[in-house]
Amino acid sequence: MVYRNEDYPLRHIHIPVELELYFPVLQENETLPGYLERFFIHNREPATWVHCCQVARRAVQLAEQYGLDARIALLGGWLHDIATVIPDEHKLTLAARYEIPILPEERKVPYLLHQQLSRRLIEKVFGLKEPQLLSAVGCHTTLRADMEMMDQLLFAADKLSWTSSDTAPYVHQINEAADRSLEEAVQIYLEHVWTDTAGIPVLHPWLIAARLTVQSRQYLRTLPALSADIHWGPVTARFHERIDPAGLDTALISNVSIVPMVGDRLVMIQLEDGRWELPGGTLEKDEPYLDALQREVEEEMGGMLLDYQVFGYFHCESAASLPYRPYIPHPHFIRLAGYGQVRLQGAPLNPPDGEQVARVDVVDIEEAVERLRSTGRSDLADFYRMGYYCWQQQFAAYSRGTEL
Ligand SMILES: [Fe+2]
Ligand SMILES: [Fe+2]
Repeated sequence: MVYRNEDYPLRHIHIPVELELYFPVLQENETLPGYLERFFIHNREPATWVHCCQVARRAVQLAEQYGLDARIALLGGWLHDIATVIPDEHKLTLAARYEIPILPEERKVPYLLHQQLSRRLIEKVFGLKEPQLLSAVGCHTTLRADMEMMDQLLFAADKLSWTSSDTAPYVHQINEAADRSLEEAVQIYLEHVWTDTAGIPVLHPWLIAARLTVQSRQYLRTLPALSADIHWGPVTARFHERIDPAGLDTALISNVSIVPMVGDRLVMIQLEDGRWELPGGTLEKDEPYLDALQREVEEEMGGMLLDYQVFGYFHCESAASLPYRPYIPHPHFIRLAGYGQVRLQGAPLNPPDGEQVARVDVVDIEEAVERLRSTGRSDLADFYRMGYYCWQQQFAAYSRGTEL
């Protein structure tokens, strides 16, 4: 894409009183890049504008390469760092004023708030509302669990511009990787931050979550049964990894499943006919999913649920003419997938209307996978492996996070 400044006229901006110090008055016939250049000079940060132009150029290249919206990439490059001109003290008060939740890591390093503040300023001052633009700018420093392609693109383009390749060899690697896959480029940077925290005062929780997302996406690709369509009676299910359940349409959740754990070992349930079964079940009418899971853990394992961490969901489509129960969504619905610690304290309750559990075992991951595979349940074997892997990664991330 060839862009010309005159293609981006800026007819109107809105400068709230708390931002008057930073935003000069708009001049007649000004363009967005012309105004931004003046904005950064006004704030004595001309080098940041040079950086933004470099990011914009690389972002546009990547957008064209990956078939993404080049205009959004360009705007993201130009605008992503506008909040860096605000002093740290004012970043904190502005974030509070704009009701941005401030994490302890951001309180310690207020600079990290500039990603979310830039997003707010883009909306407030320039009136831009495109969700892809706001999302990508809002997480361009740390990424986040639930990241889309445009988020990855701006994140990678940003990392390619700050440092010259001789001072940071990883910049060169990211650049090369970006031509193959955005995910790979992102991963190189995330691993760099993870392993070499010298000079990085905190690990932002969003960055830790983004790394978990990349890892779980890659691990999922190694699990053939879980990456393909699964058939459960009339239901066709497709697994999607997801670390952050926020944003899932909870009205579509009809079932909740768990990889139950006792410490680092796995709980398995076997029915009277010898089949190993997926722990969890269908929600009662108007029942919150955590209540349903607590109930199922009692019924199927005689246990108590101590915690639950979502790592994905099955999108299900039923070929049956009627819903499984009259109140559940049909024909599309969601089966939530997570792992969690349970305390085993008695026999399964086995209510008469449910499947009867004959045996509850606690085994290591190899044994669980072997039992499920050898009885033809590769889907469940992969499900257990995925849950176990995500638990391990989350555990390592937690330990690392508390180290710093
Ligand atoms: Fe930035
Ligand atoms: Fe930047």
